[in-house]
Amino acid sequence: MKKVRKDFVVLGKDIGGKPPIYFDNACQTLRPRQVTEAVSEYYDSFPACGGRSVHKMATEVSLRCDEVRTRVADFIGAESPLEIAFMKNTTEGCNTVILGSKFNKGDEIVTTDYEHNSVHVPILRAVETSGVRHKIVKSAPDGTFDLESLKKAMTKKVALVAMALTSNVTGYTLPAKEVVQIAHSYGAKVLFDAAQYAPSNKLDVRGMGVDYLAASGHKMCGPSGVGLFYCRAEIAERLRPVMYGGHGVTDTTLDSYSLLPAPERFETGLQNYSGIVGTGAAIAYLSALGMDEIQAHEVSLNRQMTKELREVQGVRPLKPSNPELRGGIFSFNIDGLSAHDVAMIMDNSKNIMMRSGMHCCHPYFHARRLEGCARASVYIYNSPEEVEVFTDTVKQLASKFSKKR
Ligand SMILES: Cc1ncc(COP(=O)(O)O)c(C=O)c1O
Repeated sequence: MKKVRKDFVVLGKDIGGKPPIYFDNACQTLRPRQVTEAVSEYYDSFPACGGRSVHKMATEVSLRCDEVRTRVADFIGAESPLEIAFMKNTTEGCNTVILGSKFNKGDEIVTTDYEHNSVHVPILRAVETSGVRHKIVKSAPDGTFDLESLKKAMTKKVALVAMALTSNVTGYTLPAKEVVQIAHSYGAKVLFDAAQYAPSNKLDVRGMGVDYLAASGHKMCGPSGVGLFYCRAEIAERLRPVMYGGHGVTDTTLDSYSLLPAPERFETGLQNYSGIVGTGAAIAYLSALGMDEIQAHEVSLNRQMTKELREVQGVRPLKPSNPELRGGIFSFNIDGLSAHDVAMIMDNSKNIMMRSGMHCCHPYFHARRLEGCARASVYIYNSPEEVEVFTDTVKQLASKFSKKR
């Protein structure tokens, strides 16, 4: 971890007088110099358009993007690079599946009760436009996924099971293989929103058997604005893009168009080439560290946070209570303070940068009558010493404010 920290230039900078303690990794991670150098290399050496022009610089872009596609396919265990499309973010991948699938009126889509709006809102839109029914599997009281409730929700009408593989609110990861098995036994397809899973866990889409998966490069050391979208080859031709225009088509006439096969049909318009090249560097970086090491590091910091704060009066961590089930995420409230107050005080007093609010999961909080929570999310460069500053500050806040209730 100490060696890793040196790659992240911003960690050595004075931000408002001292180096930052960056605990907002579930939103977006920091980027190592290997990634920013790769982005600069694109702009300095071959800043052209891929997939269209035939000159040398354009050919270099196309080759580099294809290389990254292959690297992503290997990284997530896909069978072929053609199963990988580059998008803007996880949101675009989820929208493509939910709004690009052909549903019939009365078809059902099943989700958890803690979906991010990037799954939840397109489903509400599909309810409006296609007449699908949205069914929700309630979490178990201990905050884990309830497989029995999923089984009860399943019928032959379920066309899609769309779920966050790892929750961005609690850090909990659902039992992926079991969910896929149950969904497939009813003939339903499965979309996993892997925005929070992909940065810290070894992905194996073939082993999981999942049909579609979406993730964001910017949550895994990559540049802003690159999404990774996996679509199993056998079903790709049935999925429509959500955007139409240049580069997604083989031919157009005045009154017709024909789509290119996947993945190009999903890559409409000029792409974020510098971002794609940088994403390749990010994946190489994470692979060299090892996904198992990354996951173990996060859990060890989470264990430390949980041990220190679990019994503190006025601190209310969100479930599940076992840190082994929460990856790098520790979400909590402090009695007597709003979540935004907590985050602002942490920032102003100790330079600890974290997220507060409803984290784009409004239904989760409405159902639990919570106004939001503060979320500390750690990653590869965070240290036990930083965690100590965090837990000490939370304890001080709790002792100062929670008594006032
Ligand atoms: C679980 C989950 N899904 C989807 C998203 C959306 O990611 P993006 O904004 O990169 O599309 C996020 C972002 O925080 C997330 O945590």
